[in-house]
Amino acid sequence: MLRVHELTKQFGKAVALNSVSLEIGSAGVHGLIGPNGSGKTTFFNLVTGFLSPTSGRVTYQDKDITGMPPHKISRLGIARTFQNSSNYSNLTARENLATATRNRIGTNWLPRLLHLRSARAEEWEHRNLADAILERFGLREFANVPAADLPGGTQKILGVAIAFASGPRLLMLDEPLAGLNSGEKVQLMEIIRGLRDEGLTLLLIEHDMKAIMQACDQIAVLCYGDLIAEGTPNKIRRDPATIRAYLGEEAA
Ligand SMILES: Nc1ncnc2c1ncn2[C@@H]1O[C@H](COP(=O)(O)OP(=O)(O)OP(=O)(O)O)[C@@H](O)[C@H]1O
Ligand SMILES: [Mg+2]
Repeated sequence: MLRVHELTKQFGKAVALNSVSLEIGSAGVHGLIGPNGSGKTTFFNLVTGFLSPTSGRVTYQDKDITGMPPHKISRLGIARTFQNSSNYSNLTARENLATATRNRIGTNWLPRLLHLRSARAEEWEHRNLADAILERFGLREFANVPAADLPGGTQKILGVAIAFASGPRLLMLDEPLAGLNSGEKVQLMEIIRGLRDEGLTLLLIEHDMKAIMQACDQIAVLCYGDLIAEGTPNKIRRDPATIRAYLGEEAA
């Protein structure tokens, strides 16, 4: 689904990402982990067009998207959240979602994910789609609350819901669990697993190792710009380079 080839990003003399080649297969939850400053967010920015690489290629569904602007990439079916996002307006949760569904890519994929019968899907108002998403993300009670007034954790879950509302095939989440309480974490991870089970591909940056190990089908490990390991959670948990660089001995 997504392939990066020898992707490099330098900021001045600093190499944030160093010739990383990686393939993300379709469907499943893919983890991207590593110490602070390893280039994880930079990787997201390069894939989604917020940054252009110094060198290397990004290919999505066999199409070269290197250097494309973000709005074009999002139209191809890639949605993301931001690590530090809190730019919420006075729009309510429902209005935010209705706006996002208006920008969605295909007409059929999102209604199908939400189990809305396709024959009826065309006549569904954006508002009704928004309600189905509120339900799916456990946000129904917040439908009419301005997003800016929501508690922090709920705001973050709404951020994921808004990204989902554009109807992506690939959903990229940058530390979605940061700032959530333990109940919210469980809730969001259940939602993520549900989306995976219905065929969405997820790429997840997270420092919560318990969640990563439980949720991911595959994990890639970055360390100061280098891809140092790749594999299943079981393999990564025992990988010496990953333990040395990030997990520490106690995780082994
Ligand atoms: N716009 C930028 N200009 C200059 N340097 C940057 C920029 N963005 C990132 N960097 C640098 O690139 C390196 C990688 O940063 P990045 O944000 O990708 O790390 P990260 O793995 O997401 O870290 P964290 O886990 O803390 O979020 C860091 O040294 C960072 O300071
Ligand atoms: Mg980051």
